[in-house]
Amino acid sequence: MAPSRALIIGITGQDGSYLAEFLLARGYQVHGVIRRASSFNTARLDHLYRDHHDLDPTAPGLILHHGDLTDGSGLRRLLNTVKPHEIYNLGAQSHVRVSFDQAEYTADVVAQGTLRLLEAVRDYQQATGDQARLYQAGSSEMFGAAPAPQSEATAFYPRSPYAVAKVAAHWYAVNYRESYDLFVANGILFNHESPRRGETFVTRKISRAVGRIVHGLQDKLYLCNLEAVRDWGFAGDYVEAMWRMLRHGRADDFVIATGSGHSVRQFLELAFGRVGRDYRDFVAFDPRFLRPAEVNRLEGDARRAADALGWRPKVSFAELVAMMVDSDLDLAARELSLRDNGHAAVHVG
Ligand code: NAP
Ligand code: GDD
Repeated sequence: MAPSRALIIGITGQDGSYLAEFLLARGYQVHGVIRRASSFNTARLDHLYRDHHDLDPTAPGLILHHGDLTDGSGLRRLLNTVKPHEIYNLGAQSHVRVSFDQAEYTADVVAQGTLRLLEAVRDYQQATGDQARLYQAGSSEMFGAAPAPQSEATAFYPRSPYAVAKVAAHWYAVNYRESYDLFVANGILFNHESPRRGETFVTRKISRAVGRIVHGLQDKLYLCNLEAVRDWGFAGDYVEAMWRMLRHGRADDFVIATGSGHSVRQFLELAFGRVGRDYRDFVAFDPRFLRPAEVNRLEGDARRAADALGWRPKVSFAELVAMMVDSDLDLAARELSLRDNGHAAVHVG
């Protein structure tokens, strides 16, 4: 029997790499969309990638294609080539602080890009009669200033160009679901982290600094608001929720969260505590990282996902911090060894 085909937009990111692993383990043929770059941007996928000459195009495996959410005609061609059963739209300029500096670009990728994809899926479904189920990566940032705990019933109050663009993408998805009978599930995911998290998000910035400080490669960590509260889970758990949403009988919107919030300060205490250090000896304030409008507290209520999808997080906050710190201790040790052998930088996965 031919394998199910999944198309992942944003496969080179943190979630894309975990989702690709998850789907490959279940026998999918995974098609990933990567952006053309002047240097390789597939570090998070290297352990999954095999040369296409060694692949059977009718069997499970990973196949990469060039594409971009700003290029609608390319997206259409991809749908016609891949004929996916499932599409995961994880592509985004996903950094909230950066979205204040690159607001138009963020809107073009996050909001308009989702619209381009929905239009392509609509036409594909109409022309072929085949349904491609679509997962849209929404965000708890859409709740922004709305009081915690936030659930599917909470009204959005976005506080950044990124969050506004995600709200637009969310409503485009709802509108296309209602207008054209598309199967589109909106995941409203709270923060999820891992050793593969981008290094400018606060959790990874901290775990990376702990590793480098222990190995003498860094002596200060510059941060801004330590009182912000986030509901941090493990990315590996969260990609399973995406998949479950597309296998559910009905396209719907789901909050995915652990249900407990912690401050950046608490993350620091645990992360530095793991190596027997006091974060106050290393952390300094840098106002450059402040956002023009901050989101103070995100804490999700994921009961709908638990009831309808049977989804529950497995990794606790303390386990997540430990996992990230341990991984970054290893990375810093390799970085030190490379430096001692005359190499300037280390490849970060
Ligand atoms: P990430 O690590 O920043 O990955 C983003 C992915 O999008 C990368 O593969 C990136 O490609 C790709 N991308 C960027 N611009 C694109 C474009 N114009 N066209 C196509 N692809 C593009 O983000 P993540 O943490 O994995 O998050 C995945 C999705 O979930 C994002 O949409 C994010 O906004 C959303 N989300 C994340 C969280 C979280 O806590 N992680 C929570 C809620 C929602 P390059 O590698 O080439 O840059
Ligand atoms: N990035 C960063 N860098 N954040 C800092 C720093 C710093 O030096 N110091 C304090 N913070 C605070 C931020 O002000 C924010 O309140 C909190 O740490 C978390 O920041 P990020 O890790 O950048 O994540 P985010 O919550 O803004 O956004 C992430 O989660 C969203 C879901 O809620 C991203 O992954 C988004 O793409 C995602 O949608």
